[in-house]
Amino acid sequence: MNLIFRVIMFSFLGALMFASCKPRKGHAVKEADQKGMKDHYRSYFPVGVAVGPQSLKGDEAVLIKQHFNSITAENAMKMGPIHPQENRYFWRDADSIVSFAEKNGLKIRGHNLLWHEQTPDWLFKDGSGNQVSKEVLLLRLKDHITSVVKRYKGKIYAWDVVNEAIDDSPQNYLRNSEWYRICGDEFISKAFQYAHEADPEALLFYNDYNTERPEKRERIYRLLKELLNAKVPVHGVGLQAHWSIYEPTEQDLRAAIEKYSSLGLQLHITELDMSVYPWEKDRREKRPDEADSLSPELEQKQIAQYSMVFKVFREYKKNITSVTFWNVSDRYTWLDSYPVAGRKNYPLLFDINLKPKKAYWEVVNFKK
Ligand code: GLA
Repeated sequence: MNLIFRVIMFSFLGALMFASCKPRKGHAVKEADQKGMKDHYRSYFPVGVAVGPQSLKGDEAVLIKQHFNSITAENAMKMGPIHPQENRYFWRDADSIVSFAEKNGLKIRGHNLLWHEQTPDWLFKDGSGNQVSKEVLLLRLKDHITSVVKRYKGKIYAWDVVNEAIDDSPQNYLRNSEWYRICGDEFISKAFQYAHEADPEALLFYNDYNTERPEKRERIYRLLKELLNAKVPVHGVGLQAHWSIYEPTEQDLRAAIEKYSSLGLQLHITELDMSVYPWEKDRREKRPDEADSLSPELEQKQIAQYSMVFKVFREYKKNITSVTFWNVSDRYTWLDSYPVAGRKNYPLLFDINLKPKKAYWEVVNFKK
């Protein structure tokens, strides 16, 4: 009697447990989808992600291997971090990203060789603290580009050579950076030339943000055209794509893609994220009554915007030859502290637990 009672109890409990573990129908299909974004987009373009060395282990590494087939160093290859002193390079972090990529068969985009931010302290000054001459600065640039590009020759297939040389103000053309103040506009063509000499096989990109805003688009177009006319070895334009639920419009996105493509350049989407706040600092500050969560309303807008931009990317797959996200998931995004600190953002396709968001399914469930 006792035994029979126990058998019945166990069967009952077992059945209960099985029923509660069984996933609901729609959910089961999604969880069973072991395909990653890269597989859905196999016949379109590689799908990349920007990382630091800390993302190459644990659950983030698992996610990266499932969903991405291209990688970019978020900071490790920038001039400040990789070349902290004139005669000292710091290779460890960049090397670890490159070897992770090689081990797992990911393509590698190099980022970046020249920028006005994250530059090392020694770069623009001589031993007495005075500004260096144009000749000295170009020589330093050449040494830097040659060392970095040669180290990863044959491993890094594409480089963002010059980052953000166009000014923010529509009234100006080039940014009034230290590079510009010391060298005039020549630093741009020289950077491409040095990179090409160091690795003639690498694809070389000019990379910038707000590339779809009509006034900036015209100035970027002008720069690229001037470089091409002067036979500077530039092969592509990087659209950073730090976008938001408010921009770009589909019309501006298409116009930008067509304008840059008309120069015969390839396009890489290099730093994609979709902020749930407007871009400008003064419109991003949190009002006291606002919460720090992804509201259903913001989420819907984000789904619609992600869906629109990927539809356009697929349509222009001949021109867009790579799409890279800036960071892995909403667990960590540079937008949590930019342009104002203290306001959590949710700009990516994976949530803070690394689970695909609704926007993810929208992006991968298209008619193949
Ligand atoms: C720019 C740079 C990137 C990165 C982002 C912010 O877009 O190109 O390297 O620094 O800003 O993370």
